[in-house]
Amino acid sequence: MSNWRHKPDSEKELLKLVAPVKHVIRWLKTRRGFIIGVGILKGGTGKSTTVLYLALYFAVVLDLKVAVVDTDDNSQSITRWDATHKALGDKIPFTLIEHPVSGKDAIPLRKRLKALQSEYDVIIVDLGGGDKETFIDLCEKARLLLMPSAPSGWETDRIQATLQTAASAARINAEGLDVYNFFVKCDFNSTLPEEEREAMAVDLSEEDEDFILPPFLHPYFDISKAPHHIRSWNVMPKRSELDEWGWLIRHALKGIIDEEEAA
Ligand SMILES: Nc1ncnc2c1ncn2[C@@H]1O[C@H](COP(=O)(O)OP(=O)(O)OP(=O)(O)O)[C@@H](O)[C@H]1O
Ligand SMILES: [Mg+2]
Repeated sequence: MSNWRHKPDSEKELLKLVAPVKHVIRWLKTRRGFIIGVGILKGGTGKSTTVLYLALYFAVVLDLKVAVVDTDDNSQSITRWDATHKALGDKIPFTLIEHPVSGKDAIPLRKRLKALQSEYDVIIVDLGGGDKETFIDLCEKARLLLMPSAPSGWETDRIQATLQTAASAARINAEGLDVYNFFVKCDFNSTLPEEEREAMAVDLSEEDEDFILPPFLHPYFDISKAPHHIRSWNVMPKRSELDEWGWLIRHALKGIIDEEEAA
């Protein structure tokens, strides 16, 4: 069977691209209240799975204080995942916070996030695929926006529209918003990620000059389609299954940490 996963020639090359673990821990603990939004204006691309694995990575591997905010009134995946695992007697290493976007308990997202910032090292926000208003609110407040999608035109089709919405909302973001695109559900038995990366590079180069930074879509940090992702609905992921997510987020954080430390 072929293995098309891209890998650097050496561990040294890989380490140059990511922030060191100890540095990430120290930086996040000192800074506190780092907000990561996971959103793309399309349903079913892998947002909630991304939220879960990153929350587990930060909490279990980095031993940080993590809050997960579920803004998805419609599917409430993370809220229901949390209830399922509590019923199974599992220990959940992060705090779940429900954020109703309508009804009597609704408050503005920025207010909810501000209150959490002094209490948590990392706050990860799960967005529904169709909720543009909440997406805009999040882009005004988050420091990093993650956009997961499968390597398929069916899923990447909404990326440009999402990037444009994010860019215009981020204009009033006081800290600045970095956007990071990546592929999930990669089986590495085909060249699909490669084909889709090329197609997207062409699409994005046709955009206007004032278009925001192109997405990373870095070939070393594609996320696999390993079955534990699908089983994680009722089987708690193992620590070793968080590894590829660790590489990905350390890559996404490297630029932000370097930039903020230089300022
Ligand atoms: N890396 C992965 N490998 C395999 N399957 C995955 C992976 N990530 C997500 N999936 C599967 O894709 C489906 C959609 O995932 P998920 O619920 O995370 O998407 P979503 O973007 O949050 O959807 P929604 O827009 O409905 O909130 C699920 O069946 C999930 O198990
Ligand atoms: Mg979801």
